[in-house]
Amino acid sequence: MKKHLVISTGAGMSAESGISTFRDADGLWEKYPVMQVCSADGFAADPALVHRFYNDRRSQLDEVQPCEGHRAIARLERYFDVDVVTQNVDDLHERAGSTRVHHLHGELRKVRALDDENLLYTLPPGGITSPDTRIDGHPVRPHIVFFQEAVPAFDPATKIVAQADVFVIIGTTLSVYPAAALLRYVRPGTPVYYIDPHPAQVPDGVHIIRAGASEGMAALTRILLGAEQN
Ligand code: APR
Repeated sequence: MKKHLVISTGAGMSAESGISTFRDADGLWEKYPVMQVCSADGFAADPALVHRFYNDRRSQLDEVQPCEGHRAIARLERYFDVDVVTQNVDDLHERAGSTRVHHLHGELRKVRALDDENLLYTLPPGGITSPDTRIDGHPVRPHIVFFQEAVPAFDPATKIVAQADVFVIIGTTLSVYPAAALLRYVRPGTPVYYIDPHPAQVPDGVHIIRAGASEGMAALTRILLGAEQN
């Protein structure tokens, strides 16, 4: 019976793929006013701007590849029952081969009908949208959780975290809720590892690996496989 490994990732996971994070120096939120391009009020005020912002981020996805850290996570599926719970809206975990990826904040390649949020559509590479786009007759919006909106994937994610035998956090400032609260759902006594070159404050007992995602995942793989062999 394989141990259940749950890995929660943030923007730092994709930094080595060339996708900028939000809050590092020259991060996305330094270039764009976050409440204009990633909030419910911002979308209501200027939907064309928000569509353009996500069109730009989506087109960047076609230019980048998963990093070694994404691939290392996918490889761990040989030894563990792995769930990836990500704040990221890119598809790099999937493209690296991870088979169970849960997106807390939506998915960049998807849009959803404005008049029926259960209608999701995956855009082709290079796909762009505007307020005038109609798919099956429906106006659409980015399938992204904006600030001021609910995070429907969070509750299911807490149940996954509560069943983890090992919990790993990679590349997040742990500054956005409810995602940052996932750590509270880990069963007491479960080993927790945090890979980040500039880790945020975390409770005592969390094993910090002060490194980037790829180097950190190589170190964690040695630790986890070493433990498996003992
Ligand atoms: N490898 C691993 N981590 C890295 C790397 C790297 N190469 N480079 C930077 N980091 C770390 C930073 O130290 C920081 O802790 O990645 C983290 C990036 O933090 P944020 O930019 O705040 O990203 P994140 O925590 O994912 O943001 C959470 O905020 O804007 C919202 O919805 C958006 O999902 C996002 C949420």
